[in-house]
Amino acid sequence: MMGRGIVVVGSQFGDEGKGKIVDTLSDNADIVARYQGGGNAGHTIVANGKTFKLHLLPSGVVRGKRSLICAGVVVDPRILCAEIDELSALGIVVGPSVLGIDVRTHVIFPWHQALEAASGSGKKIGTTGKGIGPAYEDAAARTGLRFGELIDSQGLVARLREIAPSKQRLIQGVYASGVDDGGAPEMDVEKIISAYSPLGTLLAPFACDTSHEINSALRGGKRVLFEGAQGTFLDKEFGTYPFVTSSHPIAGGACTGAGVGPTAISEVHGVVKAYTTRVGAGPFPTELADGVGELITQKGREFGTTTGRRRRVGWLDACLLRRSCELNGFTCIHITKLDILGGIGKLKVATSYALPDGAVTDIAPADTELLEKAIPNYEELDGIPDFSGEEWRAAVDGGKGNGFNALPTNALAYVRRIEGILGVPAASVSVGPGREEIIRAKD
Ligand code: GDP
Ligand code: IMO
Ligand code: MG
Repeated sequence: MMGRGIVVVGSQFGDEGKGKIVDTLSDNADIVARYQGGGNAGHTIVANGKTFKLHLLPSGVVRGKRSLICAGVVVDPRILCAEIDELSALGIVVGPSVLGIDVRTHVIFPWHQALEAASGSGKKIGTTGKGIGPAYEDAAARTGLRFGELIDSQGLVARLREIAPSKQRLIQGVYASGVDDGGAPEMDVEKIISAYSPLGTLLAPFACDTSHEINSALRGGKRVLFEGAQGTFLDKEFGTYPFVTSSHPIAGGACTGAGVGPTAISEVHGVVKAYTTRVGAGPFPTELADGVGELITQKGREFGTTTGRRRRVGWLDACLLRRSCELNGFTCIHITKLDILGGIGKLKVATSYALPDGAVTDIAPADTELLEKAIPNYEELDGIPDFSGEEWRAAVDGGKGNGFNALPTNALAYVRRIEGILGVPAASVSVGPGREEIIRAKD
């Protein structure tokens, strides 16, 4: 019997609550596989009174599920080892029986961060400074160094001595072109060797062929969750280019990133934050620059998990979500942070855009500049009560067995409206950060 492959994708600009949803779904899964991105991600799980912030480790580690970092990810071994140590301090041991890292995964080195800094993309795009773009550039240019080479200690030294001088020249060239007015940092290859060789030795026991492991598990009837990082509109091709990341967060990215065929995917779950947020530059038609925006920012604690930056906030945008449905083929959605909309009065949802030529569209245009100029038309919905965390928890507990009927009337109406607009059923509604603060469609 064939198992089930379930992809969990951010439907907006990232930070939708993917970590929480993957944690919830992983209770019932055998493997959790991260398929793209790297240390730019920050996935939060709140469970058993503890908060876990994961950057590279798949969210399955919190439940001790087999967790795989697949070939489509770019791994900074410094971040990964620090993360394993942090989890260990929180009582979670991540050994080789839990974590597997594909030998084909590309590795991030200090020159990737130096090149990102030199390129000025931090200022232009608001990148996270983790070296993500330059690492994927190396992968595409066929000049990258992969995990299999990192753990081969003798080969690593030779490869680093071969690569470092050309990277040094490249960095000097980029700095000399005047994009950044600071001096070019020195890439001391001996220092890099002495930092990375021990990391390779430490991580060697985790090396494996994650594609084969996942395919074998599926053939054996197992359930595999594919955990996306970032979000649909940060996709390199289909996001708001150039204000995007350098990988493919959309559902198709699970196939190329994890090494499975499209027939391995049975379900695609979209994570939809009840409003919209975005970190960094780029179009955001429903952005709120007023007091309501400030209220949502503070109540929703909309500050980045990885960089601590303030997230931009705005109303829910159904035009973006319709596009997201097309790009991902959602079989269901999970609505998160509905509690944050409680007590802010009437709610708005953008259902169409007016474009500069007078046309009206109900789907986000493909052209980034046009999206920048789109003026949202809003539908107004009744406000949701200003419940405390305790009141939401009481509603969740008291309503057990009633599915979404546990929600206050207007909250339920908001959920039904989103389902109606998108034509996709909601599988859960989340009303707090904790693992238990979630209502499933069917209990
Ligand atoms: P991810 O990158 O998609 O995993 O999302 P982040 O972890 O970066 O950001 C989501 C934030 O919202 C985290 O701090 C979560 O703990 C929190 N969160 C998730 N779901 C809910 C919810 O339903 N209500 C509230 N209040 N917080 C939530
Ligand atoms: P999770 O997985 C939100 C954004 C950055 C920047 C752009 C490119 O937690 O949802 P990069 O460093 O990737 O080259 O930056 O993408 N970005 C994210 N925004 N959530 C994330 O991850 C993000 N990862 C990258 O802010 O605008
Ligand atoms: Mg995040």
